[in-house]
Amino acid sequence: MNFDSNKIELHLGLEKPVRILHLTDIHLSLADDRNENMIQYAAGRRNTFFKEGNFPERDPVGYLEDAMEYAKDFDCTVITGDMVDFVTYANYDTAAKILAGKDYLFCAGNHEFTPKPGTDSMELKRGSWDYIQSHFRGNMHIESRIVGGVNIIAADNGFRLWTKEQLDLIKGEVARGLPILLFCHVPIANEMMTTEGKDSARRLGYTEEEILQSVETAQYLRDEPMIKAFFAGHGHHNQYWDFHGKPSYMTGGLFKGILGEITVD
Ligand SMILES: [Fe+2]
Ligand SMILES: [Fe+2]
Repeated sequence: MNFDSNKIELHLGLEKPVRILHLTDIHLSLADDRNENMIQYAAGRRNTFFKEGNFPERDPVGYLEDAMEYAKDFDCTVITGDMVDFVTYANYDTAAKILAGKDYLFCAGNHEFTPKPGTDSMELKRGSWDYIQSHFRGNMHIESRIVGGVNIIAADNGFRLWTKEQLDLIKGEVARGLPILLFCHVPIANEMMTTEGKDSARRLGYTEEEILQSVETAQYLRDEPMIKAFFAGHGHHNQYWDFHGKPSYMTGGLFKGILGEITVD
């Protein structure tokens, strides 16, 4: 299959290598007569992503189908959000159909809840959560799984918010004593420790308490030695950071044909 692979190697002293497939930013942009007012807009967005992807061979639906087939070669698949570009029946029906019966961890991105990009709010996110979640297996707020001696956590930080529930679950996973890889949508380096991050959170309707909770969690993720590396999407291109001594990787959008192939040994 013709993907542009972001190949990542991590050495944690495992007995046997573990291979993880990282998919992110598919940006399905479909609409049908159930969302008639979105049909033209959807066509425009497909065109935008086609250009942003430099005229890729496949469309996002094709790449997602191929990637979920390719996933059979891996020990675990993690999808870090922006599965859709905006909420329509056609987008979520398509995602659910391709993912049905497949095994993966999925955490939400910032586009999962938006009727149109640029109109996000916590209110919309909370209001549409159950409908969106019904199209995916697992728990898109946070989920973890131990694979071959490594503990994989996928957590929603799509709006740069970390909740107490997430922090408590991560602390519980740390107590199990295995190295942790943390997958989330927004790169960890952009968390709410910055003024820009805090301002954007306020615009989305967070309380000051929620912002403080997010900062506390981000600091914990930074300082806890059992959390070994971070993986994210959102920026649509491959990038690497050293985040306070921890490797932090961003993998580009699957709509461009990019996917992450992570080998941990
Ligand atoms: Fe995205
Ligand atoms: Fe995003």
